[in-house]
Amino acid sequence: MEDEEILVGLDIGTTKVEAIIAKDLGEGEFDVIGVGVSPSEGLKKGVVVNLEKTVESITKAVRDAELMAGLKVDSVFAGIAGDHIRSLNSRGVIAISEPHNEVTKRDVERVIEAAKAVAIPMDREVLHVLPLEFWVDDQPGIKDPVGMMGVRLEVEVHIVTGAVTSAQNIYRSIRKAGLKVDDLVLQPLASSYAVLSPDEKKLGVALIDIGGGTADIAIFYDGCIRHTAVVGWGGENVTKDIAIGLRTPLEQAERIKRNYGSALPSLVEPDEQIDVPGVGGREPRPVSRRILAQIIEPRVEEIFTLALREIRRSDFADLLAAGVVLTGGASIMEGMAELAEQVFDMPAKVGTPVAPGGLTDLVSSPIHATGLGLIKWGLQSPKERRRSRLNNGLFEKILKIMKGWFKEYF
Ligand SMILES: Nc1ncnc2c1ncn2[C@@H]1O[C@H](COP(=O)(O)OP(=O)(O)OP(=O)(O)O)[C@@H](O)[C@H]1O
Ligand SMILES: [Mg+2]
Repeated sequence: MEDEEILVGLDIGTTKVEAIIAKDLGEGEFDVIGVGVSPSEGLKKGVVVNLEKTVESITKAVRDAELMAGLKVDSVFAGIAGDHIRSLNSRGVIAISEPHNEVTKRDVERVIEAAKAVAIPMDREVLHVLPLEFWVDDQPGIKDPVGMMGVRLEVEVHIVTGAVTSAQNIYRSIRKAGLKVDDLVLQPLASSYAVLSPDEKKLGVALIDIGGGTADIAIFYDGCIRHTAVVGWGGENVTKDIAIGLRTPLEQAERIKRNYGSALPSLVEPDEQIDVPGVGGREPRPVSRRILAQIIEPRVEEIFTLALREIRRSDFADLLAAGVVLTGGASIMEGMAELAEQVFDMPAKVGTPVAPGGLTDLVSSPIHATGLGLIKWGLQSPKERRRSRLNNGLFEKILKIMKGWFKEYF
């Protein structure tokens, strides 16, 4: 077992930090062997605002996942999000290297480098350079030009950048938690790896990952990512509306939302009642579940409308034959897909990732899309990027020592 490939996805979200540990089984297959989730208090709208609290959440999530997996990890694939994320398309062109005029891997790297050479402001960090399409001489629409003959190689790439300070704060939080960063991945891009099929990406699809703080959008067409955007509203806003609307504490509003929430009042029986606890110890009172849905609907509709505006900005709005796929914790609520179909006027569904391995029940939920997507991103990235190794021997030694302490003191 020693030295097997282990990958860790670390989703640092606004409401939770989650670590998923997986074993690489080869050929894109993996097994989830550990999961740890810890509440997140150090983020606002997807961005780290309190380093100490974020470090604490990361440490706890990773430790819980390690205990479940029975091993220690040392590096993670982490997500990044927030409304500081920008994306742009850029082109590069090079002469295909002599003497054979056959495109090599090196030529592909060179032309992507050339496309990267756009003016990126000093305060922005390039997170991804994703090739969209290659041209060999004047032939367009090539996905993989290696081995083709020609004299001129051109590429169009999608460049995703983030604020240097936001990226640095994620690096620092992870490093302070005693871990290394294998790669920093745009969260909706990671989620797309967990919930979108290659067919959907080819036909055209908008992925909307609705978390606690933000709704992150990624648009795919012809197999490639074309546009990314962020709407600064999420499930937390829905909870706040419920707390105000039903005059109940936030924790109760959150519980009521998860247990009885619906985004579409017409789906709810008119005579269904729920008990709502009052603030400051006031007696609970019965409230119609339809009223709850009437509080939720306008906020979700607003989030969808803002997302639609972003989709329209992308120029791909009329090309999304596979419609909209919702994911993220806030997409779990009843009626989300139905309301999305109304607002977007496109087919919509909730994307639930399917995690292989013994922990399927634990992680096959839209709330884990980013964490699982980070694992899938890691699987297809070059091996030298991954530093986590199964190190059972060492971990068992540490556990033995710790057990020794417990025996001594209790
Ligand atoms: N069963 C449920 N019904 C409705 N909402 C839910 C349910 N379960 C979780 N949520 C909501 O999902 C949100 C958290 O989702 P998620 O874990 O995807 O967010 P996050 O990744 O922490 O945040 P972000 O991606 O915005 O940084 C919370 O607002 C929570 O209320
Ligand atoms: Mg999230």
